[in-house]
Amino acid sequence: MAAQILDGKQIAAEVREGVKKEVEELKSKGIHPGLAVVLVGDNPASQVYVRNKHKACEEVGIYSEVHRLPGTTSQEELLALIRKLNEDPKLHGILVQLPLPDHIDEKKVIDTIALDKDVDGFSPSNVGNLVIGDKCFYPCTPYGCMVLLEKAGIDPKGKKAVVVGRSNIVGKPVALMLLARHATVTICHSRTKDLAAECRQADILVAAVGKPEMITGDMIKEGAVVIDVGINRLDNGKLVGDVHFESAREKASWITPVPGGVGPMTIAMLLKNTVEAARRRC
Ligand code: GUN
Repeated sequence: MAAQILDGKQIAAEVREGVKKEVEELKSKGIHPGLAVVLVGDNPASQVYVRNKHKACEEVGIYSEVHRLPGTTSQEELLALIRKLNEDPKLHGILVQLPLPDHIDEKKVIDTIALDKDVDGFSPSNVGNLVIGDKCFYPCTPYGCMVLLEKAGIDPKGKKAVVVGRSNIVGKPVALMLLARHATVTICHSRTKDLAAECRQADILVAAVGKPEMITGDMIKEGAVVIDVGINRLDNGKLVGDVHFESAREKASWITPVPGGVGPMTIAMLLKNTVEAARRRC
């Protein structure tokens, strides 16, 4: 039987609606959640992401400011701006859009963002708190994956979860979040010996490798839940995930489409984290 579709567009809209209500409630208590987004240079994809983040903030009533800096900005200038934003009481969240130009040390920049404003959840301290199960911000894309599972009524407890990909932004944090929800977690990567055999064990399969359609239906256990984080553009212009949708759909019980699955969740969870940051301040 073909899998049910985990509709990220619809679920992200529900999350945003919830955030909007939370913003209204906070505003009635005199707190106006605020987010600063910093963009360095003119990467076209980053420009689109930043515009979308600003628009999404406006739609739910979050105060938003975008700092667009030229690609020639020095590291010290960028760090000075972040330190200023750290001190600004109007702002509860700060996000520096990645990638940064080569002459800037990304790690140093992320580590300069105040921990209580790190709504991207990328700083080493935040990740450390995630590892030990302490209070932290969940990085937005993995957080979106977990919300999708929750909305489909899937409890990871006791299930075998396989994460394909070990990036700091998705693979590692989503594995930790599944572990925190009591799944038995395997992380696979480019050196994994028999990827297909590992994937076939998965009750929950998260694909985050950035390789178009590399996970095919024969690698999926009957009834598995498949979360596809990949967004790849083929030469013919078509957008596809890391999972071969049509063959995977025949085996899975639930599957996220690309586009319209995990993608729309990322900004929704950024809004959620910004409101959470504002709440923690009160
Ligand atoms: N570039 C691509 N995705 C992201 C993201 O989630 N956060 C930041 N800061 N930069 C990105």
